[in-house]
Amino acid sequence: MNLETILNSIIPGDALKVQRELPEGIFDCAVTSPPYWALRKYDTEGLVWEDGWRGELGSEPDPLLYIDHLVQIFMETWRVLKPGGSLWVNISDTYSGSGGDHLPGAGRYKHIQYQGKQIDKPYFKTPAMTLKSIRAKSQCCIPERLKIAMVDNGWICRDTIIWYKPNGIPESCTDRFTRNFEYFYHFVKSNRTIYWTNSKTKVITDKKPPGTKGIEGEDWDYKDCEYCSKTGKDGNGNICYRCKGKGKYLINHWTGHDYYFEQQLEKYTSELDRWGGPEFKPVGGKGWNEGTGQELDRIRDVRPNPYGRNKRSVWKIKLQPSNLPHFAAYPEALIETPIMSCCPEFVCTECGLPAYPLMGDPVSIKDGGGCKNLADELGTSPTSALRTKQWNSHKHTGYAKCACDAEFKPGLVLDMFMGTGRTGIVARKLNRNYVGIELNQKYVKMATNELRICEDILREERKQLTIF
Ligand SMILES: C[S@@+](CC[C@H](N)C(=O)[O-])C[C@H]1O[C@@H](n2cnc3c(N)ncnc32)[C@H](O)[C@@H]1O
Ligand SMILES: [Zn+2]
Ligand SMILES: [Zn+2]
Repeated sequence: MNLETILNSIIPGDALKVQRELPEGIFDCAVTSPPYWALRKYDTEGLVWEDGWRGELGSEPDPLLYIDHLVQIFMETWRVLKPGGSLWVNISDTYSGSGGDHLPGAGRYKHIQYQGKQIDKPYFKTPAMTLKSIRAKSQCCIPERLKIAMVDNGWICRDTIIWYKPNGIPESCTDRFTRNFEYFYHFVKSNRTIYWTNSKTKVITDKKPPGTKGIEGEDWDYKDCEYCSKTGKDGNGNICYRCKGKGKYLINHWTGHDYYFEQQLEKYTSELDRWGGPEFKPVGGKGWNEGTGQELDRIRDVRPNPYGRNKRSVWKIKLQPSNLPHFAAYPEALIETPIMSCCPEFVCTECGLPAYPLMGDPVSIKDGGGCKNLADELGTSPTSALRTKQWNSHKHTGYAKCACDAEFKPGLVLDMFMGTGRTGIVARKLNRNYVGIELNQKYVKMATNELRICEDILREERKQLTIF
């Protein structure tokens, strides 16, 4: 399958089979939500799986068979992802059937066919394991089982996001609590450095750079020690912890990356309670950080960042209504962060490396030195900024680019369970490209239409942007 012909479109068909026809290593990121187990039917043709079972994904008689099928599909995703790629999977649990204990092959799956015949008991070849039984009323632990199976198959699970739904759907139960969250897993392929960025020369490369053995002013530099004001001694006359008495220290301009990830910041939700409580008043001591009881933090060179803190792993996101006849669309807001953090906006057309956003080197600020306004502006605690000597500026200072001198194109997102097409919509809004796969022809049509409307709106908006 040729990438040009499928770019920003939805391929009708089965996630497993279609991915097999795609070229290797073309996607920067995959974001998806599969059909949940034993919850609803998507009116797709029953597929014939390699293990001999025939039926719709999600209607397997045994949850482990379902997990097996999902892992098969995601191992194809592994192949089509770039080495630095990410896979995000949104999934939720199912309660074991109210009709009795859920045994493999229990009554509600009688429609299942095997080898063209309708059979009473669904047949499936024994997958790696089968469950003896999950007792009625129990959670089936589907998300947990998937996560473990994925990790057992070589995926690196970097995050388990709790998607907290403040407007979750009410449930009629009275003997347990109403669920108002789902899981969103972030998996990556690589835990070894696959590219390096240089914050000074703004270069990205996939060949190991010389680092501090390289050229001064390019690969590394000396930096005056701000801890001892270049004296080499701390306040008590002891050798400075940071520069080991030299008054300066080496900084390596190269940073290694195991996979593509752009850190996302969020605003502080409340004033920081470290470094002397919300008022940041030194207790007893004179120094800006004395009397805080934070012996170790005192010598750390990273202070609260007035631009915000690293995004946390519980995300509060409302369900987004849809007027389309599809009941399982995730909100656009849910997938913005995965796409922003894991799919580069610019990718080299020649070598495929991303233009890597660079964050500023840590900046030094004298006590009170003009950071109050900045903190006010950014909605963080001004006291924290006033008492902050240093922070990682986390300010885009540009992009690290490869040496190809070629054109850039947008990064590419895959969703192999496209549904209403929201992954594509968010990708396009964020200037990325997408490829979708969807088995149900009705949804392919519906989502294609939605995406066409979205493209028209975006084109109009961008036209206006260029006018003003
Ligand atoms: C949970 S929904 C995805 C919803 C989507 N994230 C959205 O926001 O609209 C799962 C989708 O997978 C589709 N599907 C089911 N089996 C499939 C298969 N084997 N290959 C591709 N798509 C499949 C269903 O038709 C359904 O639209
Ligand atoms: Zn020093
Ligand atoms: Zn390049």
